[in-house]
Amino acid sequence: MLTGFKNAVEVDFTLEENKKKIEEAFKQAHAEAGAVYPLIIGGKKVETEKKIASVSPATKEVLGYACSCSKEQADEAIKASYEAFKKWSLTSVEERVRVLRRLAALLIENRFIMDAWNVLESGKNWGEADGELCEQLDFINSYVMHIQNLEKGKELVPTDELTKCVYIPIGVGVAVSPWNFPLSLFGGMIVSAVVTGNTICCKPSSDAPIVAYKFVELCQKAGIPADVVSYIPGSGSEIGDFIVEHPLTRFVNFTGSKAVGCRINEHAAKIADGQRWIKRVVAEMGGKNAIIVDSTADIKKAANGVASSAFTFQGQKCSACSRAIVLADVYDEFVDEVVKCAAELKANQGSGESNATMGPVINQGAYNSITNYIEIGRKEGNVVFGGTYSDAEGYYIDPTVIRDIKRDARIANEEIFGPVLAVIKVDSFDEALDVANQTEYGLTGSVYSETRENIQRAKVEFQVGNLYFNRKSTAAVVLQHPFGGFNMSGTDAKTGTADYLTNFMNLKSITEDL
Ligand code: ALA
Repeated sequence: MLTGFKNAVEVDFTLEENKKKIEEAFKQAHAEAGAVYPLIIGGKKVETEKKIASVSPATKEVLGYACSCSKEQADEAIKASYEAFKKWSLTSVEERVRVLRRLAALLIENRFIMDAWNVLESGKNWGEADGELCEQLDFINSYVMHIQNLEKGKELVPTDELTKCVYIPIGVGVAVSPWNFPLSLFGGMIVSAVVTGNTICCKPSSDAPIVAYKFVELCQKAGIPADVVSYIPGSGSEIGDFIVEHPLTRFVNFTGSKAVGCRINEHAAKIADGQRWIKRVVAEMGGKNAIIVDSTADIKKAANGVASSAFTFQGQKCSACSRAIVLADVYDEFVDEVVKCAAELKANQGSGESNATMGPVINQGAYNSITNYIEIGRKEGNVVFGGTYSDAEGYYIDPTVIRDIKRDARIANEEIFGPVLAVIKVDSFDEALDVANQTEYGLTGSVYSETRENIQRAKVEFQVGNLYFNRKSTAAVVLQHPFGGFNMSGTDAKTGTADYLTNFMNLKSITEDL
């Protein structure tokens, strides 16, 4: 039963008082510009020579510097977490719940400054940042609720023996989190480990290490012992494999690209000297998400949903749509409508700090890769909107609609992770489903249709972890739309659920003869 759980509610930024609060928070964050954020290893703050600059994608200004963890320091962090586990794994669920509830309260207390850092580092706008903070609150509140149910253990049939089957913590986790949800994905990995009695070493993305640091500070303030959560930003090439392969690492929680996720899976599978378990890997990877629009769809609504899924946060949500698969008889009408929606979004383009609808993409590398795909798309189809970009001040790419894309085109199959929509024409719903399922991914998908038969078919045949009808493919809400993908999109660990937590626990079956 999920009684008692309520999703968090976003701040209303149309209210002058809230607008003032976030503007004040931006001032506070800017006043900290250039600050150095140390590693946190087993509760100790450690400064390093080597630094990671956190750069604003909107302005290219340096927001601050995270310390960069070396292999030796990562080793120290994992060993300290192993020691901390001995104590934390024995704390009561009640105590874990207590500190996590305090963490939720602190997050609310600090929401404007957390939103501000998120906006500055990731380039999202105010509403998107606060939506993420709500997701983080939902993760905390849902995991707190689940752990109290899981604490009761498995229901067993009665016997003459005294029996129980209980969930127990498993050890030290390693969290490798992305920049696109620098608070809720980073924080969700921490909270799911902590609530289950595990300890965790977290390597946030080098593109957004400050909001992650601020979250770890809140964890400590909430009363989570300082050695339970270690903060170890660093270069993937230097410490990535090392922390995954470490013999004391018990599980790895990863969100990011397919390439890195597959590498982690491979490296975690190798048994290191002294390792006494098979490591668990929870991975959320890429996507090449599709929205099907059939001939009976409400075309305006479909175009709106596709544009919102493809272009908000610059197409950088893992749930974002990058392929519209449209039946031939409504194809032209759909393209016209989606172009209108793209034009509306472009009209309000600017920095996250100015609360523009569309902002910059995360960094120079992403900008280069996305614009390269636009040029590939120009050859593979016809650009009917956007296709323009500039990195003069920040990394800005206009929402781009490319029509007449064939199903085997590169931009119809490869993940772009930017505001680029390939519009593919099909002759039948059969073909639409076939094209939708043709990639190696399976994260999100939507269908716009008023035909029951098509909807029923897609429910069975469209192979994605999150399937939606007559709505966009983004904005999953915790415990309303449990989120996680199939195939090369990941291990389908649905965040926010009790199942998710069981990834980080063992079941111990205990029997006593009477
Ligand atoms: N969970 C995020 C969404 O659904 C990625 O958009």
